[in-house]
Amino acid sequence: MSEVIRVPDIGTGEGEVIELMVKVGDRIEADQSLLTLESDKASMEIPAPKAGVITQLMVKLGDRLKEGDLLLELDSGDAANPAPAATAPTTPPPATAAPAAPAVAAPVASVSSQPIHVPDIGSSGKAKIIEVLVKAGDSVSAEQSLIVLESDKASMEIPCPSDGVVESLAIKLDDEVGTGDLILTLRTSAGAGAASAAETATPPPAAAPAAPAATAPTAAPAAEHAPVGAPTRGGSKAHAGPAVRKLAREMGVELSDLQGSGRHGRVMKEDVQTFVKAQLAIAKQGGGSSSGGGAGIPAIPEVDFSKFGPIEEVPMTRLMQVGAANLHRSWLNVPHVTQFDQADISSLESFRVSQKTVAEKAGVKLTILPFLIMACARALKELPDFNSSLAPSGKSIIRKGYVHIGFAVDTPDGLLVPVIRNADQKGLLQLAREAAELAEKARTKKLSPDAMQGACFTISSLGHIGGTGFTPIVNAPEVAILGVSKASMQPVWDGKAFQPQLMLPLSLSYDHRVINGAAAARFTKLLGDLLGEIRSLLL
Ligand code: COA
Repeated sequence: MSEVIRVPDIGTGEGEVIELMVKVGDRIEADQSLLTLESDKASMEIPAPKAGVITQLMVKLGDRLKEGDLLLELDSGDAANPAPAATAPTTPPPATAAPAAPAVAAPVASVSSQPIHVPDIGSSGKAKIIEVLVKAGDSVSAEQSLIVLESDKASMEIPCPSDGVVESLAIKLDDEVGTGDLILTLRTSAGAGAASAAETATPPPAAAPAAPAATAPTAAPAAEHAPVGAPTRGGSKAHAGPAVRKLAREMGVELSDLQGSGRHGRVMKEDVQTFVKAQLAIAKQGGGSSSGGGAGIPAIPEVDFSKFGPIEEVPMTRLMQVGAANLHRSWLNVPHVTQFDQADISSLESFRVSQKTVAEKAGVKLTILPFLIMACARALKELPDFNSSLAPSGKSIIRKGYVHIGFAVDTPDGLLVPVIRNADQKGLLQLAREAAELAEKARTKKLSPDAMQGACFTISSLGHIGGTGFTPIVNAPEVAILGVSKASMQPVWDGKAFQPQLMLPLSLSYDHRVINGAAAARFTKLLGDLLGEIRSLLL
C-alpha cells in the first residue's frame, strides 16, 4: 500500500535539505532518518514515520521545505513482508548497485560480496573524495557514512546501504568519482564481524513496531536508536552531515574532538559552534595557559611534579601574566623569521668611551643603547616598511609618519617596554637621558601606561648580560624587533690580515607577512653600516 509522507511539524518556518539519506528503492525502518533540514536556527533530521520501501522521492538537495510539504512515497505493505532479493524494486536505484534487500533480512548466515557504488550525486560531473571514513576490515552498519564527496556545488556523505564488513576499498582520498563508480566491496552476511550476533538476534523489519505517523523530529535517546555497529566517536568515523563537516573544516575543528548531541551521537552544527566558543573562552581567559589547548592546539599534559621531588608554586606577578599573554598572542599570530648579523662597533665604542665623561658631566650615562635607538630610527625612516603595521583586514600596510621606539626593560616584576617618542628627531645625549629616565621609572614602578604605548619598533638589548644571538618575539602589531647581544672582540679579515674588531651581534625578528627576507637583510646591513661609521650616524 503506497502512502505519501510529508514534512512533520519542524517547529520553525522552513529549512533547506542539506542531506538526503535515502533513495528510491531503499527499504527503511520506522524512525530511520530520511533527510536533514537546516534552518537559520538549527539543523534537524526528519525520521520516517513508518517502515516501508521508498517508491518515489519528491525532494532533492537544496530544496526548501516546510511543514506539510511532500517528501516521498512509501510502500508500507512491503514492510510487513520483507521482499526477498528477487522481488526487490524492478527499477534499481539510480546508478547504484543497491542491495536488493538489507542484510538484516537474510534468513541464513550466508556470505556474499556486494559492490557499493556512488549513488546518483545529482551532478553531471565528478566530485572529489575529501574524506574516507572506513577502511578494509571495518564493520559498518546501514546508513553509516562511507566517504564524503565535494563537488563545485555541495559536499555530501555517501551512506552504506546495508550492514556488513568492508572487504576492500576501490577508492582513496582525493580521487574524483562520479555516479556509479565503485566505492568498495562489502561482505554482507549474518556472520559479518561484530554485526553478526545482533543481526541474527534482530527480528526482521516486519517485526519492527511502527512509529506514530506524526513523529516529530525531536531527538530520541541515542542509545535507543543506535544501529548495530554504529560508528563510535573518534577518528574519522565522527557522524555528521556535510554542512556540519564543512563548518568544522572552516573552523579548523576536528570532528572527533566533539561529542555529538544529535541522534546516534551525530555531531550537529550547534556542537561545532559550542566547541569553538568554549575554545575561544579558554584562550581569552588565559591568553594562553601553560597547558594551551586553544584553537585546536594540542594541550600539554598536566603533570604532578610533586611525584618526582619537592616543589614550590610561586605566583606570577600580574605584569608577568599580562606579558605572557601578549607574547603568546604575538607568537601565535605572527609568522616570525629572525635575521642575524653583526655590526663592527669598534669606532663607536672608542667614541662612546671618549665621550663618557662629557656625558657624565651632563648627568647622562652613555651606553650603547642610545646609539642603537638612533641607528634604528634612521633605518626606520629609510626603510618605511619596518615602521608600519599590517591593517586588520590583512590587505594593506599602515605606514607611520612618526618614529616612536620602544625598548625592553628587565624589572623584578617582569618585562616593561617604555617608548621614546620621535626618536628620529632627538640627539644622542637626549636619547641617553630619556632612555635612562624611562628605564628608572620602569624599575621603580612609576611608568605611566601612556609611556608604554605607540611604539613602531622595539629594541631588546641583552648585551650587558651576554649571549651571541637570540630570537626575540615581535611586539605585534609592530612588524619587527631588534635583539642585541653582547659585543665581543673578533678577528675580522680586512683583505690582507685579521684585525681585532668589536663586533655587536644583531638579531632582527620580523613579521614575514609584511617584511621579506631581502628587506630584513637590507635593514640589518644598514644598521651595521650606521653603527660601524659613527660619523655618518651622528650627522
Ligand atoms: N655589548 C657589550 N656591552 C654592553 C652591551 C652590549 N651589547 N649593552 C650594554 N653593554 C654595557 C653597557 O655599555 C654598560 O657598560 P659600562 O657600564 O661599561 O658603560 C653595561 O653593559 C651596562 O649597561 P646598562 O646599564 O644595562 O645600560 P644599557 O643602556 O645598555 O641597557 C636597558 C639599558 C634598560 C636596555 C637594560 O638594562 C635592560 O633592562 N635590558 C634588558 C632587556 C630585556 O630583558 N630584554 C629581553 C626581552 S625578552
